[in-house]
Amino acid sequence: MPLRNLALALAMCGAVGAHASDEQGLAIVTQGTAAGATACIACHGIDGAGGAAANFPRLGGMDAAYLRKQLLDNKNGARHSPVMTPVAQGLSDAELKAVTEYYSKQRPQMPAVSAEPAALALGERIANQGLWARDIPACFSCHGPEGRGIGAFPAIAGQHAGYIAQQIEQWKNGGRHNDAVGLMKAVSDRLTADETQAVAAYLASLKL
Ligand code: HEC
Ligand code: HEC
Repeated sequence: MPLRNLALALAMCGAVGAHASDEQGLAIVTQGTAAGATACIACHGIDGAGGAAANFPRLGGMDAAYLRKQLLDNKNGARHSPVMTPVAQGLSDAELKAVTEYYSKQRPQMPAVSAEPAALALGERIANQGLWARDIPACFSCHGPEGRGIGAFPAIAGQHAGYIAQQIEQWKNGGRHNDAVGLMKAVSDRLTADETQAVAAYLASLKL
């Protein structure tokens, strides 16, 4: 086969491969897996919008490697959730990859957020500047401009406020301890309940 045709054939295989993995991701989302992972759609939706009322996190548009790390952490115990740990245990490595890549490609419509202007202003200050008098760094110094995420630092813009507040609470009480060198534990321990609510509301009001 001439080299040009070979390259074309390989490129087509790549395209078919990606397509097959998208289909596998969608099948897991809608049907779950034989090993017992529940269909993700029930809680995270088909486009990964999650649910504000029940603290089901938004997954759509988030970094696939970050989502994968969270599922692996749920599997190995560094992060524990009575809901998600059994789901993660029902996913093979290949399934884990397919389903996280599927969600990272989605662009869900997120609900509008209403919050007190004073809370939003405080939240904006914490996110952009931090509260240096109390050693609280700006969230965006790690989570990237506008909280859109960068590398191992996940996107926090456009996430549900209740979920954000709940994760900060879990770092405080030790329920979540999967952050490299305790970066989020140190931040969470310094935030008061009011500051947590304020920054969570502000982040939820942003677009990812
Ligand atoms: C019964 C509801 C439910 C189902 C079904 C479910 N999840 Fe979750 N998921 C949750 C909840 C609740 C959390 C937050 C857990 C916590 O507080 O640590 C979560 C968290 C996650 C996270 C971490 C997100 C982040 O931003 O850190 C990922 C990734 C995830 N789920 C993927 C999946 C996948 C993939 C499936 C399907 C195979 C699935 N979930 C099925 C409820 C569910
Ligand atoms: C020094 C760096 C750093 C700073 C500053 C920081 N974070 Fe984080 N944050 C992290 C890292 C690292 C993770 C990912 C932990 C992991 O791998 O599970 C994280 C994860 C999170 C998560 C979990 C996201 C998810 O979907 O699971 C939330 C919510 C969060 N941070 C909120 C905040 C808020 C709010 C602030 C500001 C008050 C903040 N962070 C400041 C490093 C930081």
